[in-house]
Amino acid sequence: MIKSQRNLLNSLKKVFNNKSARLHDPLFKGNEKKYLTNCIESSFVSYVGNYVSSFENKLAKYTKSKYAVATSSGTSALHLIMKYLEVGKNDEILMPTSTYVATASSVIYCNATPNFVDIENENLGICPKKLRLYLDRISKKKGKYSYNKKTGKKIKALIVVHLYGFPSKILEIKKICRIYNIKIIEDAAEALGSFYRKKHLGTFSDAGILSFNGNKTITCGGGGAIITNDKKMAKKLKHLSVHAKKSGSDDHVHDEIGFNYRMTNLSAAVGCAQMENLKKILKAKRKNYETYEKILQENKEISILKEPKQSKTNYWLIIGLVKNNKFKKKIINYYKSKGFGFRSTWRPLHTLKIFKSCPRDKINNANIFFNKAVNFPSSPIINYEK
Ligand SMILES: Cc1ncc(COP(=O)(O)O)c(C=O)c1O
Repeated sequence: MIKSQRNLLNSLKKVFNNKSARLHDPLFKGNEKKYLTNCIESSFVSYVGNYVSSFENKLAKYTKSKYAVATSSGTSALHLIMKYLEVGKNDEILMPTSTYVATASSVIYCNATPNFVDIENENLGICPKKLRLYLDRISKKKGKYSYNKKTGKKIKALIVVHLYGFPSKILEIKKICRIYNIKIIEDAAEALGSFYRKKHLGTFSDAGILSFNGNKTITCGGGGAIITNDKKMAKKLKHLSVHAKKSGSDDHVHDEIGFNYRMTNLSAAVGCAQMENLKKILKAKRKNYETYEKILQENKEISILKEPKQSKTNYWLIIGLVKNNKFKKKIINYYKSKGFGFRSTWRPLHTLKIFKSCPRDKINNANIFFNKAVNFPSSPIINYEK
């Protein structure tokens, strides 16, 4: 154990030129400063400005979506979609327990209830087989919709999460949701640059969300976006994101309660510059994976997770799996103490006190994954080629 730890440490030192490495640093190698200066000099620093629409166009084009609506964060993007779906206190929303807390928070903001389901370990997404059995067991149809027999609440929607940029089995999940008349949306916060069957993640359902938080594949400082092919939805979400202000009304007419969820021109300016370098960033991140694969070949304690079949992922955060659960914390602490930003993967949400009262299926795979999984330093700078 100690020997293989030391071997890995020596290899890491070589990879990082004897410098420390954080979990995920942003990379500003393009026009970020120039575009930010443009914003400041033009005084368009807030919600109005060309960079916002330009960023939206770039995102739509890259993901081959008809529309993109830029938001202040991935969380606000999710919240807006929940509002659009009129999610409320009598609704349950299915989601994998292995996700970042924001997936569930957006549901709680609407006074609705997350209902947690298990994942499968090869692609880290909802397990379709278990989902089908779970729905068979807990739901009954009343009219067009499915209700949880125990809680009486409508099972209104399911959020597919493409965890760490890995694709969930969305086509199978879609088929199941059709049977139960459950809407699907995608949390692709971690998945910019990830494809399944050559289609960008987040574009398999009515709407997907992306995040541009500081540690994502590309960043706007903070920010998010909704991608969709639904014109009515895109228009409404944009409207809700600007306090539902009637367009063209300079006498402040708001036709419903909206939100202050727009992206600023400053953030979008950074986003535009980052998008220009996205291909290079993705190339560097794929090389990170290959580098780790090579140096771990001989290591008996940790292996790394490869992208699933029929996919090309962004390798947002490289995932290592420790063979012996007992060593997960030790390994993280050991490499951290040596200056390498190793981190645990997201804690399954059903284990958090704040979600104690939420319904859930029997969770097995998500617990196994959490007990073994470690994120490796994954910044694009490691292998970036100018
Ligand atoms: C799976 C997932 N969903 C939602 C979010 C929320 O995005 P943001 O941090 O931009 O609000 C994140 C961000 O880390 C995430 O990883």
